[in-house]
Amino acid sequence: MALRFPPLLPLIVLCFCSSVIVAHKYDDPTAKTMEDFSGYPIQEPHSFIQNSFSSLSVEMESLQKQIDELASFSDTPAPSVTRILYTEKDVLARRYIKNLMGLSGLSVREDAVGNIFGRWDGYEPELSAVATGSHIDAIPYSGKYDGVVGVLGAIEAINVLMRFGFKPRRSLEIILFTSEEPTRFGISCLGSRLLAGIEVLAKALKTTVDAKNGSFLDAARSAGYVKDDNDLSSVFIKKGSYSAFVELHIEQGPILEEEGISIGIVTAIAAPASIKVEFEGNGGHAGAVLMPNRNDAGLAAAELALAVEKHVLESGSVDTVGTVGILELHPGAINSIPSKSHLEIDTRDIDEDRRNTVIENIRQSAIRIAKGRGVRLFEFNVINQDPPALAEKAIIKAVEAASKELNLTHKFMISRAYHDSLFMARVSPMGMIFIPCYKGYSHKPEEYASIEDIANGVKVLAVTLAKLSLT
Ligand code: GLV
Ligand code: MN
Ligand code: MN
Repeated sequence: MALRFPPLLPLIVLCFCSSVIVAHKYDDPTAKTMEDFSGYPIQEPHSFIQNSFSSLSVEMESLQKQIDELASFSDTPAPSVTRILYTEKDVLARRYIKNLMGLSGLSVREDAVGNIFGRWDGYEPELSAVATGSHIDAIPYSGKYDGVVGVLGAIEAINVLMRFGFKPRRSLEIILFTSEEPTRFGISCLGSRLLAGIEVLAKALKTTVDAKNGSFLDAARSAGYVKDDNDLSSVFIKKGSYSAFVELHIEQGPILEEEGISIGIVTAIAAPASIKVEFEGNGGHAGAVLMPNRNDAGLAAAELALAVEKHVLESGSVDTVGTVGILELHPGAINSIPSKSHLEIDTRDIDEDRRNTVIENIRQSAIRIAKGRGVRLFEFNVINQDPPALAEKAIIKAVEAASKELNLTHKFMISRAYHDSLFMARVSPMGMIFIPCYKGYSHKPEEYASIEDIANGVKVLAVTLAKLSLT
């Protein structure tokens, strides 16, 4: 890379940072060589700074084309996108991303569960790298921007820096995380949880199955992962492997668009939890079993769904939310009283204690409802009960400085959605950059972000990565 942009190289180092970095121009032997090589003196930093950021260019047309192409790897018709972990479409989409990473000159590797890494070596490659990235799996009938902006946008951010002639000190690494969405195996942020070294998950995955009873290990193998020994601990990374992790993402809420602000700087990610519940009753004939004699597992589920709403509202805070996103009845015939019901409940809050109180209240309601209706509470399983995560001050500052230098309006905000950043925060200082999306829509086909807004996010990401790579 260095030889492709000889006269610019040391200047770019200068432009991104303070006097500490300015010293690099004179200390860095490469800079000297470049000066000798180019045969003319390096431009003074001052004039370069004035021109620098306005010349950062995002190739919007090709980025939009990539977003559209990636969306075509879907199991449901456009405009919806459905891309489930380790399915054929997921594997094709992964190949598409690896190819783009390769075209950008990154060295690509994958771990045992298919987290994909694309690295651009810095000129001090022994230092811990700066990472960015997101996910490309998509829940059923969702849109084409969730996660994708943080992966394709990251590749473009690297391209922007390369075209600019920037040379990173710390290596820059893009991570495509496996299964941020919990769709197939019920586990959200599967890849980043493992990276963060959660041993109980590595163990649990050996016996985890999907709704069709297909095992996680078989599915992973069919996609070319989990080789011989089923050992998932190879995925764990050491704390300190990255000096920073920054994720670019659509806001998935309406605030930035409503307020006409270009960039959201995330200060914290709300605490998510999910719960699986199963009731069992006797079932029976819809005509023959009289009402007093029934123990209807379906009605227990319906009552619990309403109880979830009640407990969430009782918290008294708009920040507490709860959703019953899955409610299945068995056997699922119009003329059969449900003998089994299955609910999956998602609840979140920026206040962990308050969220935990809601979980406990839901549990008490499930017990009471089962008793009252004479059904069995077969399962009440809190699948995950994650704490919130705080963004690192130094990264918040870097994103803020980048936004200012790019003349982009910005505001600090909380992420109410969860992200792989929630788990990367356990092993690395973390930060997130939000961009506006149409009406805040997400997890549905109407999800949309304009390419101009995406390009702003890419530029802020590029400058932030550059800054962090030089620290
Ligand atoms: C992520 O997709 C979330 O549900 O917050
Ligand atoms: Mn999502
Ligand atoms: Mn996402």
